[in-house]
Amino acid sequence: MSVAHGIRTLGVLGAGQMGLGIAFVSALRAKVPVLLHDRSADQVTKGLALMDKLLAKDVAKGRITSDLAKDARDRVTVVNELRGMRDVDMVVEAVSESLPLKQSIFASFAKELRPDAILASNTSSISITKIAAAAVPADVSAASDAGKASAGRVVGLHFFNPVPVMKLVELISALQTTPETLDRARAFAVACGKEVTTSKDVPGFVSNALLMPFINEAIMCLEKGTATRDDIDTTLKLGMNHPMGPLQLADFIGLDTCLAIQQTLYEGTRDSKYRPSVLLERMVDAQWYGRKNGKGFYEYTD
Ligand code: 3HC
Repeated sequence: MSVAHGIRTLGVLGAGQMGLGIAFVSALRAKVPVLLHDRSADQVTKGLALMDKLLAKDVAKGRITSDLAKDARDRVTVVNELRGMRDVDMVVEAVSESLPLKQSIFASFAKELRPDAILASNTSSISITKIAAAAVPADVSAASDAGKASAGRVVGLHFFNPVPVMKLVELISALQTTPETLDRARAFAVACGKEVTTSKDVPGFVSNALLMPFINEAIMCLEKGTATRDDIDTTLKLGMNHPMGPLQLADFIGLDTCLAIQQTLYEGTRDSKYRPSVLLERMVDAQWYGRKNGKGFYEYTD
């Protein structure tokens, strides 16, 4: 039996490439009003400009009418502080991969948002159980009914970049997540037009536990001089029909994000097969983050 998601208003925290993409599919495909918040006004401006561009492209290609595009755009409202989201039925956090940052955000969610709101994280690798524990107010025991209810509404909802294009959402249950939270989050992802897979709450979940060692191995090949950048990427593109080579994909995801995920995998498993390559660490030290700031394994001018 299909479950209704019951989301009448969604909050999205973070207007970067992931947050904006989530706002886009929620407003256009699930047709849900979205309150978007980012502490950087510049990021919000850039995100909304991208949304306008994507909607205009869909209209130009005849996929949607201009009325539908306008309705989707009108469903997105920017709020200047978290408190502006206090009445949402669900919030999706899409900020950078930092456990302390996410813990502080989920503690604020518990304080500012309705007690029955679903609290979802788009984390790529961080333990949802740890994030859920942060949603229990400091003066409440995690083992009490109130503590279990507060953490029980936290769930991992992992979208893929570019969100409007990639068909998957990975759903992750924390130890504390209730079946109702899981069912409603799944129903919401389906309403956004996504297929859903589930993963246990292990470092990197299924997706990044498989993808990141592959990307890291490609960087190590480059580091060791096994092949050139272009030959590594071309081998995977033409030999295995990957849409992007692994170095190009690393740039696309963001080298800082790749390193943060790899560190979570390595620290979470203590398995040397996940140790990030020195070259990746050095590139992030140099603040070469890939496509997002114009320099990674490739140079970007657009
Ligand atoms: N945002 C929105 N749409 C985008 C986009 C973006 N950033 N980049 C490309 N697109 C759209 C284009 O507009 C185009 O749409 P259209 O069909 O309506 O015209 C469509 O994607 C195809 O784009 P292009 O024709 O320009 O280029 P390609 O055919 O090379 O496709 C790609 C681009 C879809 C990005 C393709 O190269 C691809 O699938 N790459 C692999 C992406 C991938 O693996 N993503 C997952 C990363 S891992 C992740 O996100 C998890 C995280 O935890 C790390």
